[in-house]
Amino acid sequence: MPTLTFPHLLSAGRIGNLELRNRIFMCPMGSNLGEPDGACGDRIQSYFEARARGGTALVTVGSVSIGWPVGSGNAPNVAISEDRFIPGIAELANRVHSHGGKVALQLQHAGANAVNDIIAGRPMLVPSEPEPSESDMGSYLTKDEQTRIATPHQQEGARVAYREATRDDIQNVVRLFADAAARASRAGIDAVEIHGGHGYLISTFISPYRNRRTDEYGGSVENRSRLLVEVIEAIKDRVGADFPVWCRLDATEFFVDGGTRIEGARRTAQLAAEAGADAIHVSAHADPARAVGVTEGHATHTPCHFVDFAKTIKKAVAIPVIVPGRIEPEVGDKLIRDGDVDFISMGRKLIAEPELANKLGSGQVEAVRPCIYCYVCISSIFFRDRIRCAVNREAGREFEYAIVPTKEPKKIAVVGGGPAGMEFARVATLRGHTVTLFEREQNLGGTAVFASYAYEPNGRLVRYLANEMQSLDVDVRLGTAATPAELTRLAPDEIVVATGARREIPPIPGANQDHVFSGDELRTLITQDDNISEVRQKLSWSQRTMMGAGAIIGATSDAKRVRQLSRLWMPIGKRVVIVGGGLVGLELAEFLAARSRDVTILEEGANLGAEFAIVRRFRAMHELEKLGVRSLPSTSVLEIEENAVRTQHPDRGVELVRADNVILAVGTVPNSTLHESLLEAGTAAHLIGDAGGIGYLDGAIGEASELARRL
Ligand SMILES: Cc1cc2nc3c(=O)[nH]c(=O)nc-3n(C[C@H](O)[C@H](O)[C@H](O)COP(=O)(O)O)c2cc1C
Repeated sequence: MPTLTFPHLLSAGRIGNLELRNRIFMCPMGSNLGEPDGACGDRIQSYFEARARGGTALVTVGSVSIGWPVGSGNAPNVAISEDRFIPGIAELANRVHSHGGKVALQLQHAGANAVNDIIAGRPMLVPSEPEPSESDMGSYLTKDEQTRIATPHQQEGARVAYREATRDDIQNVVRLFADAAARASRAGIDAVEIHGGHGYLISTFISPYRNRRTDEYGGSVENRSRLLVEVIEAIKDRVGADFPVWCRLDATEFFVDGGTRIEGARRTAQLAAEAGADAIHVSAHADPARAVGVTEGHATHTPCHFVDFAKTIKKAVAIPVIVPGRIEPEVGDKLIRDGDVDFISMGRKLIAEPELANKLGSGQVEAVRPCIYCYVCISSIFFRDRIRCAVNREAGREFEYAIVPTKEPKKIAVVGGGPAGMEFARVATLRGHTVTLFEREQNLGGTAVFASYAYEPNGRLVRYLANEMQSLDVDVRLGTAATPAELTRLAPDEIVVATGARREIPPIPGANQDHVFSGDELRTLITQDDNISEVRQKLSWSQRTMMGAGAIIGATSDAKRVRQLSRLWMPIGKRVVIVGGGLVGLELAEFLAARSRDVTILEEGANLGAEFAIVRRFRAMHELEKLGVRSLPSTSVLEIEENAVRTQHPDRGVELVRADNVILAVGTVPNSTLHESLLEAGTAAHLIGDAGGIGYLDGAIGEASELARRL
């Protein structure tokens, strides 16, 4: 394969007078890494410094409060509302500059999303009193999650109230933005971005749905954009025309009838440019009452979701245009080459891989740790926790969590080549230990490989980790089961067991029939792996003939091929019932429904997908609903019959759900057999990942990374 280069993405660029070493920006992302009093401390400085060290042209501190605590969103975000915040911000600027990077602050007034106003019982500033709306989020959340999300609203004195901005309020807001920009400039910050999107104050003025004013700030797009224009002008007046200022704008408001649309956004962008804005950062918003809003709007699930909007805006203005939204480097390179946009802002990719730009520049594309779009990052923000990343345990902890060389190099045996085993081997090797990794299959990746058939980003993580094994020269022994005898021969100083999970057939009457498959059997069927002969017994004559004729996939663990070919044929009937609505059940349901199967998920508990981070769960449920999957929570299985599953629900009673095939996505238990036998033989061993307790990728990577740093 030819080495990928990114000549356009990595070429120098400029916004106004600001020179940028390449076209990769780090999106503004609220991280909750600020200090509790709004200060910019070592934790958040280290987080951004790591991305600057990694070659990012410009990092943006998201949602910096201009009036803290008034009009501010989340408790531990950074503030710039008083001079006392300047030293921390100046230190951040120094640390970013020391690596040749640039830094912007995204200035924010949270308006109708000012959680700190709710907590304090202050009314939130809005252009017009909002229409009441009912959120659908509750139906996807567990009781505990609902309580955690609602906590600020339940504190003593908290209340949700609004205040329609008077002219004085508006002037005050304009002054706060200008003061904030002046402080940023004094602190040595390179630019400011005005947050004009995502339902915060300025975007509610711009939105024709949220702004119903009849004064000069309401009505026409010019009037609705007036607050933004005044803010830009005031900043330019205060800090001088040379200080770069740009704004983030919603190109559209998804699911909002009568909301912002691209035609209006295009005009707002022109007005911003006329007022002196040096660039436009394109984004989108979606009705926040819709659980899927976050992944349809700014933290989009759809690759390149905002690119067409950005192209439209680029044609309407003469200033640079910045675009985010799941843009892969090769796509970004092409967009810049073709003059469609000027800069690519990357969010989740840079949380997962701070060294992204440097790695692209040095031709180490395979060494880029991928974001798996599991939404652990943004789900943490929902709970007001500090940001964290499922694949990069260092994210948000850079100040305390570096990989430090060991003083006592050891010989370590790792059993199991799934994500937990590989992440352990990676970190331990980097620390200077010598690792031998045993994997009984012929491929690395474990269950994550199967998970990648249903959810492609998981496969990227497996490839990244497998590539790390190779480049770090880890002694990987494929097709080798690490028996206690084998381990004794190796005589390691430490043994780490990462043998993953195994799936037990649950004691459901009828579960042993031929049309009932376990998750493992389904995998065998669609990949035709080594265990195929056993599962083939369960197929009909015609299904076996199809498989024999090679019409099915052909033995492969290439996820892309499996995904493509399984669209043509699978030995699975039209009506499928999946027993178990956990993470595995939901991913399988999406895989099968996308292949024209009528899928029903039966889940005994009250919630589906409880193991997913909440934002990923919202998205998964949305995708399933779109595909017509029927989800039946609180439904237990009484018996699997020949063509149906007999179920019981507390209200609906006993019901039959028709099924040609039944897939059992329950009964996943830790596979700790080896660990137990080692302990019985008096050999100490560490247990990580699903082998110690089912925690999926997030848990596996987390435990592996912690242990490798400790040993
Ligand atoms: C954890 C998280 C926090 C975010 N916070 C902000 C924010 O404070 N301000 C903002 O304008 N956008 C915010 N966003 C949206 C991002 O700036 C960006 O639009 C989004 O992540 C899409 O880019 P990506 O696909 O490269 O991640 C946030 C996104 C994430 C994932």
